[in-house]
Amino acid sequence: MNRPSVRKATRYAFLLGEHISHSLSPAVHNPAFAALGLDYEYGLLDVPPARLQEALARMRQPDCLGGNITMPYKHDVLAAAEECSETVRRCGAASILINRDGRFVLQNNDVEAIAACLSRRAATVAKGPAVIVGAGGSAAAMLEALRRVPPTRVLVLARRPEAAEALAERARGWVPVPVEAGHLQEGAKALAEATLIFNATPLGVREGDPSPVPREALRPGLLVYDIVYRRDGLNRLQSEALAAGALVCDGMRHIFEQAPFTFQMLTGREAPREVMLESLVAATGRRPLDWGSDGTA
Ligand SMILES: NC(=O)c1ccc[n+]([C@@H]2O[C@H](COP(=O)([O-])OP(=O)(O)OC[C@H]3O[C@@H](n4cnc5c(N)ncnc54)[C@H](OP(=O)(O)O)[C@@H]3O)[C@@H](O)[C@H]2O)c1
Repeated sequence: MNRPSVRKATRYAFLLGEHISHSLSPAVHNPAFAALGLDYEYGLLDVPPARLQEALARMRQPDCLGGNITMPYKHDVLAAAEECSETVRRCGAASILINRDGRFVLQNNDVEAIAACLSRRAATVAKGPAVIVGAGGSAAAMLEALRRVPPTRVLVLARRPEAAEALAERARGWVPVPVEAGHLQEGAKALAEATLIFNATPLGVREGDPSPVPREALRPGLLVYDIVYRRDGLNRLQSEALAAGALVCDGMRHIFEQAPFTFQMLTGREAPREVMLESLVAATGRRPLDWGSDGTA
């Protein structure tokens, strides 16, 4: 385990994952702790799978509040937890772990972040179909958020249609609208008819990545939620969607929306949202993309 390079503090929180040196979470949470006069420090636990148990033991120590969980451990942590929310159970993935006196309590604040953005466009979402590209943990989080803010129907597209079908089959038990599945390569028509498109693949993280959505599907008024982000600017999907007049939430908006949930769960205090936003802007040099509100919330 890379020793987390954190300053000495009275309590600690961590992001647990692998290859996470680029994470913006410390840049968002540490100024927020300081703004409330909390002598806490948010650091990274960047560990390979062979050292996951060692990292979890660190997170059980009394000086650790808990923290966020990211790839590839969002599912693996379920086996170590004493308590999981219904949301975590349905998604099969957790993104936040609270250390409550040595007991691990799991939540999924990816769902909370997506639902917060969807609820501001609930009337638009309700008008048509949603298409999810990808069939992993973020796709499951979107399905759970769509349970709360339903479209007319949902289509899950993936490069492995059997993965899309498996996720759709699970979601049929709890999403109150029809959920279908298909092959990503055969999704052009459905994408062109969607009211909401969600990118739940890693496409767009690396420079030169192709867009997961054909340019012809992008048009004015379309809602595009692209959960990935690049620290140095917009990716291809985000640029093309904005150029086409679509309304876009990006991965940076996602970070900003989920961070207050994490903060509140870790500290029991209301998060200083303005401090978090300005810290994110200072760390990246740009503001998160936001699709605003249609008046429903
Ligand atoms: N902004 C944030 O705070 C935030 C939060 C959560 C996630 N994310 C990002 O969102 C992305 C997805 O996360 P996740 O947890 O859902 O990952 P995941 O569980 O691994 O699922 C990824 C999905 O994308 C598909 N995929 C991977 N590479 C692809 C490609 N080249 N073309 C088409 N499909 C591809 C995978 O298909 P296979 O199963 O066939 O590989 C899988 O269906 C990651 O980059 C993650 O870092 C960002």
